Amino acid sequence: MRVLVVGSGGREHALIKKIKQSPRVDYIACCPGNGGIAYDAECFNVGATDIDGVVQLAKEIKADFVVVAPDDPLVMGMVDALHQEGFATFGPDAKAAIIEGSKVFSKNLMLQYGIPTAEYKVFDNPSEVIDYITAKNEFPTVIKADGLALGKGVIIPETLEEAIAGVKEIMEDKIFGASGNQVVVEEFLTGPEVSVLAFTDGKCVKPMVSSMDHKRALDGDKGLNTGGMGTVSPNPYYTDAVAQECMDKIFLPTVQAMNAEGRTFKGCLYFGLMITPKGPKVIEYNCRFGDPETQVVLPRLKTDIMDIFEAINNETLSDLPIEWDDRACACVIMASGGYPKAYPKGLAITGLTAGDLDGVTVYHAGTKRDGEQLVTAGGRVLGVTALGDTLQEALDKAYDGVEKIHFDGAHFRRDIGQRALAAK
Ligand code: AMP
Ligand code: GLY
Repeated sequence: MRVLVVGSGGREHALIKKIKQSPRVDYIACCPGNGGIAYDAECFNVGATDIDGVVQLAKEIKADFVVVAPDDPLVMGMVDALHQEGFATFGPDAKAAIIEGSKVFSKNLMLQYGIPTAEYKVFDNPSEVIDYITAKNEFPTVIKADGLALGKGVIIPETLEEAIAGVKEIMEDKIFGASGNQVVVEEFLTGPEVSVLAFTDGKCVKPMVSSMDHKRALDGDKGLNTGGMGTVSPNPYYTDAVAQECMDKIFLPTVQAMNAEGRTFKGCLYFGLMITPKGPKVIEYNCRFGDPETQVVLPRLKTDIMDIFEAINNETLSDLPIEWDDRACACVIMASGGYPKAYPKGLAITGLTAGDLDGVTVYHAGTKRDGEQLVTAGGRVLGVTALGDTLQEALDKAYDGVEKIHFDGAHFRRDIGQRALAAK
């Protein structure tokens, strides 16, 4: 099989390393890819949202299967365009990807089908938002831009002043463009967060092993929200009882609701959950693998990932048993100094042979090749990942890897996994 993967981050690198393990695959291409992915796949300079370019590339390289990993091309309909040309794909079509592309859609879906989530109201006018928040006078409150916003479209104001400033940025200054035409204001929930990625072909749903993201930039869950500074799997808060409740009240009802809406979802459906005192509730849906959740979930996958992708494409997922490694996995993100705000690029990275340490894998997120040298090229640069018999062992190995790697101003959290360890 010849496989094309669309995207360029650590998630895509983890997908490619897993696809490479399939004995069925003899060629992997990636567009646009990055400096580290280039060691595992042939990279082509076609942008991840360039639908015509990707279709053309798939034809040129005679791809048998195309995996579309990021949210924006999925929401824009890249899978639809690939289907029109007869390609087998992994990823939802645009009609189904709206579950991530519009928070207004997903909140209304959950309300209509009785799927547990935070109470909410939708607004398309900034002064009405402010009137509502003022009258309610409950803080913190949660304000979400309707559309895609690089994971930054959620604000949690502690005061009315902060809320007014945030609404102005989203709805008037349009810092996320048209994504801010509408906002959802919702109830602030509390409890541990769990990420569950699930394979679904629209007929059945097979959750992968659970994980925990660390979204804030600094230790102790302080600082700004980021795309994710590290992950561990499994997530100790996702007990068997919670898993069963999620299956019955959230996973199956979501897949059925999408079918009922004529928007059958095929691919990886990401459930961002909060385990509240009143049970698990949906914080967000994503229409794709999480980043950096994928970096700790896929190393635990034992089943051939191409068999899974093909079963989803053929709607025969229920016939395929999926097996998981019992070991724990941890991923520590090494980011550019300054991320998630402005950061320098082009800094030399040394010590990457950490990837040769037993059980350690370095997934590249924002790197590129500059002659023989690998240099930084993004906010999140590397995801240093390790499996271990215990979570502590996985974390120790991952941090041993981090110690060996250097670039100027490298920033990483030192407390990845601590909350998970404390839960036990
Ligand atoms: P999202 O981009 O939707 O994943 O939201 C970013 C983060 O905001 C989540 O991981 C949560 O920590 C937090 N968050 C989102 N919605 C709520 C809510 N209703 N209550 C409390 N925290 C929330
Ligand atoms: N790590 C969160 C996400 O992928 O959206």
